[in-house]
Amino acid sequence: MGAKTWKAGRFFVTTPIYYINSTPSVGSAYTTIIADTIARWHRLNGEEVFFLTGLDENSVKTVKAARESGYSDIQEYADGMAEKWVAAWQRLGISHDDFIRTTEERHKKLVQEFFFKLKKSGDVYKGNYEGLYCEGCEAFYTEKDLVEGKCPYHKTEPKMISEENYFFKLSKYQEKLLEHIKKNPAFIQPVSRRNEVVSFIKEGLKDISVSRPNMEWGIPIPGETEQKLWVWLEALGNYMSASPQKWPATLHLVGKDIIRFHCVFWPAFLMSAGYKLPKTVFAHGFFTVNGEKMSKSLGNVIDPVYLADKYGVDSLRYYLLREIPFGQDGDFSIKGLVERHNRELANDLGNLVNRALSLAEKKLNNTVPKAKTDLYLSKKFNLKKIVKHMDKLETHSALAEIFSFVSACNKYVNDKEPWRLEGREAEKVLYSVLDSVRVIAILLQPFMPGTSERIVKQLNVKLGTLKEAKFNLLKAGQKLGQKEILFRKVEENKN
Ligand code: MSP
Repeated sequence: MGAKTWKAGRFFVTTPIYYINSTPSVGSAYTTIIADTIARWHRLNGEEVFFLTGLDENSVKTVKAARESGYSDIQEYADGMAEKWVAAWQRLGISHDDFIRTTEERHKKLVQEFFFKLKKSGDVYKGNYEGLYCEGCEAFYTEKDLVEGKCPYHKTEPKMISEENYFFKLSKYQEKLLEHIKKNPAFIQPVSRRNEVVSFIKEGLKDISVSRPNMEWGIPIPGETEQKLWVWLEALGNYMSASPQKWPATLHLVGKDIIRFHCVFWPAFLMSAGYKLPKTVFAHGFFTVNGEKMSKSLGNVIDPVYLADKYGVDSLRYYLLREIPFGQDGDFSIKGLVERHNRELANDLGNLVNRALSLAEKKLNNTVPKAKTDLYLSKKFNLKKIVKHMDKLETHSALAEIFSFVSACNKYVNDKEPWRLEGREAEKVLYSVLDSVRVIAILLQPFMPGTSERIVKQLNVKLGTLKEAKFNLLKAGQKLGQKEILFRKVEENKN
């Protein structure tokens, strides 16, 4: 995908870039798996996709974590963590096209220029700042933002800081932002988040500090000896620095904790610097773990790689994409994961594929017969509905729809009892089931790419795109592949 081939209108999706004071949690994996599924869905649809993820490395948190782990060289610590993040995403089947690290030269260069653009617009001035800073959020808060004097996200008391900083005239963009949000209903989604952002803006925007003095780590402002760029200003710039010619992004996928940064600060910076705005910022909800907030201090942070190793990467992907209605809050539990794995994957999907292949072996000599898919069955498949759900990023509903077709296929097998049938009758029923399994494999690719591959291997066909997600494309006379068990049941109490 060369720089010149990229045209406007293609699909450019991002995840937040993650802090490197720890390895991925099932929380960051959630966002990244959704983004991956959306990217894969658009590729399946034949679109040119650019899927960007990466790491936010210039935070004070990096310095603290490096010291705590005994590193004197912070870059060395960052490099080690980056390797771990990349390996985790690889393990989870993440298909990003680029991985941006904010300690890279390409990033530094772009954000320094970006800052000068803000300055050139007359939107940056020097002043004294006194305020409450939460290092967890890397942001200043007012008393009003706090809950019982503490940061609502980190439950820690912010530090009172008094320093000379560069300020950005955020106040100047209040009306422009409101106008943009009003004119572009797709800009902030879901609606509940849009309303939240609108009321925050309407309360009145104050200018914000965009530099920090005396920081040992971070991106310097050229010509300044003391000031470094505020980590959020430059971190947001990652969306552009990875591949400036591809800007603007189609979709920024973020957790609801960081909408203020993405829906107020970032668009204001972009307006000031004279760039286009991203088409959509979609904020998904947060999930708790067994009903409790996931946090390092509670010791309940779950490693997604551990889950993938124990239950299978596609079971983890399936559970996350299916369990939590996208945009809403939810709860993560191993019990729920195991239940869905056993019921929907091993029983429903696994069983269907296994029955189709076993019966074809017994009745058809492992060869696709000449027949047409039973209209009674193909009518139960509603591609339009699935596409509609995916357009709204409702992965849980899209999966529910795909699995309702899986159930329809199982019911069809139960009702028709092909093991009792012979000749043309057996051929028609089994062709219908094998062809449906092929269609299911195509649709599952964005959600469970490994499983999808394993299914088509058993059918001995190529996967195909959304265009091939229609019936009667399985070729008569073709030999089927080797059958294998897709999912083995897990005992619930062995966790
Ligand atoms: N570095 C900033 C983002 C900068 S983007 C320019 C940051 N990093 S983070 O490592 O804290 O990641 C936050 C993101 O992780 C959330 O916005 C969300 O996408 C994801 N999640 C972390 N925990 C989560 C849950 N418990 N539930 C859902 N998503 C979670 O903020």
